[in-house]
Amino acid sequence: MLNAAIIGTGFIGPVHLEALMRIGGVRIAAIASNEPEKARSLASRFSIPRVYDRWEDAVADPEVQVIHTCTPNNLHFPINSVAIAAGKHVLSEKPLSLTAAESAELVRLARERGVVNGVNFTYRFYPLVQHARALVRGGELGSIYLVHGHYLQDWLYYDTDYNWRLEPDIGGASRATADIGSHWCDLIQFITGLRIRSICADLVTIHKNRKRPPASSETFGADQGQSGITESVEVTTEDAGVIMFRLENGARGACTLSQVSAGRKNREWFEIDGSAMAMAWDQEEPNTLWIGHRDRPNELLIKDPSLLRQEARPYAHYPGGHPEGYPDGPKNLFLQFYEFIRSGRDPRSGPIPFPTFEDGHWANKIVEAVLTSTRTRQWVDVR
Ligand SMILES: NC(=O)c1ccc[n+]([C@@H]2O[C@H](COP(=O)([O-])OP(=O)(O)OC[C@H]3O[C@@H](n4cnc5c(N)ncnc54)[C@H](O)[C@@H]3O)[C@@H](O)[C@H]2O)c1
Repeated sequence: MLNAAIIGTGFIGPVHLEALMRIGGVRIAAIASNEPEKARSLASRFSIPRVYDRWEDAVADPEVQVIHTCTPNNLHFPINSVAIAAGKHVLSEKPLSLTAAESAELVRLARERGVVNGVNFTYRFYPLVQHARALVRGGELGSIYLVHGHYLQDWLYYDTDYNWRLEPDIGGASRATADIGSHWCDLIQFITGLRIRSICADLVTIHKNRKRPPASSETFGADQGQSGITESVEVTTEDAGVIMFRLENGARGACTLSQVSAGRKNREWFEIDGSAMAMAWDQEEPNTLWIGHRDRPNELLIKDPSLLRQEARPYAHYPGGHPEGYPDGPKNLFLQFYEFIRSGRDPRSGPIPFPTFEDGHWANKIVEAVLTSTRTRQWVDVR
């Protein structure tokens, strides 16, 4: 058994908890939160022996070998860096830190200590996403011409919707790009095997002032849009934006990001157009992959392990007709992460089957290029 601690008990902390419960071989030894009641309630429901009010105590717990960082963004750097210094393996939420300077430091620290490090870019781990990647690697898509799509949500649609993500000292200088654009960019780079090298972006803040409710609201909380109004707060981070980009093979791309698109809940959609065919996938319908042809009828591939490429099969745990969804992504990622720890392999060499701090750092560089491009109204290279 490996001993893990989860820090943060909001939306994603319990997602980590459930996924860990499902993979086996991991004991959740501690849970930490600045909402101690919630932490205690989770601990009692799931038989977690220790509850800490301070994240520092979870990191210092000598029995804990792996830290899951599930707090607001501004705490990722301090928690991750202290955890690495204590020799713990770290599975961090995205964005890896508030800035690329911080994420560069986390990459350096993790290499120095040789700890296993991962970032929860969970959308890589749907069976049909893995299949799409295998199709690209197998050459079935041909050479890639174009990558386009969007990531749209509506949970910040009204100016009365409020969350810590709106506050730059907690969420960072970028919101829609760092929060959801980072997922979209990671996903298409993972599938194509190509990095985004150059960016021309135009971000926009629709609600320049928002009404902060009396108590800060939890992510996707039921009170969104209905809370009492106490204070008008100026918003500097983007509600939405458009990003044009070039991939390293010269392919062109475009992505629209929004947290203010009515009716779109978590619509992460992409299409990749290649010289042999095209494919498209929607996170809200994750068990279907559209495959486009010019000279024969298009296909809809429904997730079914027997129809997937060999490399994608381990990510499908149920037979055809039994949908797999959002909670299965972290499960698949954690399976890979903990298997890697158990193998005793050195995370500094060889292929790593899950997103690492290097990927989190690259995502931060993309976010900063998007901000710079918007500010300067120019193309910006990602180096
Ligand atoms: N990978 C994904 O798909 C995904 C999805 C949602 C959120 N996230 C990321 O997860 C992180 C958390 O997001 P969320 O939506 O769960 O937020 P949330 O507001 O719902 O939860 C944050 C939690 O952190 C706790 N916390 C705050 N300060 C703390 C402190 N000092 N010590 C200990 N605990 C503290 C809060 O009590 C709360 O339980 C964010 O970085 C976000 O980007 C990732």
